[in-house]
Amino acid sequence: MSSHLKVAVFPVAGLGTRFLPATKAQPKEMLPVVDKPLIQYAVEEAYAAGIRHMVFITGRSKRAIEDHFDTAYELESELEAAGKHSLLELLRSVRMDDMHCSYVRQHRMLGLGHAVLCAEHVVGSKPFAVLLADDLMVGQPPVLAQMGEQFARLGRSVLAVQEVPTEHTRRYGIVAGKPIEERITQIERIVEKPAPEAAPSRIGVAGRYILTPTIFNHLRQLGTGAGGEIQLTDGIARLMADEAVYAYQYRGKRYDCGSKEGFLEATVELALQHAEVGPPFRHYLRQLALGD
Ligand code: UTP
Repeated sequence: MSSHLKVAVFPVAGLGTRFLPATKAQPKEMLPVVDKPLIQYAVEEAYAAGIRHMVFITGRSKRAIEDHFDTAYELESELEAAGKHSLLELLRSVRMDDMHCSYVRQHRMLGLGHAVLCAEHVVGSKPFAVLLADDLMVGQPPVLAQMGEQFARLGRSVLAVQEVPTEHTRRYGIVAGKPIEERITQIERIVEKPAPEAAPSRIGVAGRYILTPTIFNHLRQLGTGAGGEIQLTDGIARLMADEAVYAYQYRGKRYDCGSKEGFLEATVELALQHAEVGPPFRHYLRQLALGD
């Protein structure tokens, strides 16, 4: 079903200031959760949704992302010579043979909406997915594949949403609308990072979007919004005047790896589930006498 979607856009040009100094010289998307960088989790999620063309919107000091999805000739020949075949396989699986990567430079950091607009000449007039790699999503089926199924049915833009605590509305785009079926709401209002008293609901947008190409027309016309940036939320608000936009309450869990707390939660929980380190790590945590 989700084969309708062919392209995924990964805006990775942000500064990652919440993770300084770790992000001084490396992209936040390359921070590893257990043994994989955040961006690889997101790319694997897109691949699992049937997408084969990955478009990265990059900026300065993001070279490591391009290198990560490139062939590592020296490393591969060393491993081959040493007969380390399983490591070689692991290395090659980072970039599947049928996957294409494009890199577009966002020359000025003008916000998420602007980063998405930078993908227009590569995406063209097809619907596309947007994944923010600092939201690590765990779901079965993977969250973007769930959204792809909804998109194939509804034929209009779909945003992943979840309920958020009232005191956290300032961290999200908040939506309100009319529920049309289980887990699906037709959005009537969307507000970027409102204060709790101004929030139209407690339903927050997570970093997964499927958008129709009409969004580009709106992003192009937008001036800078909240915080002097071109906001994707403002583009979506305008898109709603042209066509329906749906919120989909995904099945799964989101870790906000753009924040230290979320990153640590993801690290502990994914380590516990990890085939190799999970059992000894569980044992280690049990032994840690944590006072309240
Ligand atoms: P964030 O608001 O999380 O900003 O951006 P950030 O710079 O990555 O991190 P902090 O807040 O300074 O710690 C949301 C997403 O939009 C991308 C970011 O890379 C991130 O995935 N983004 C944001 C861009 O690609 N370009 C921009 O101009 C702004």
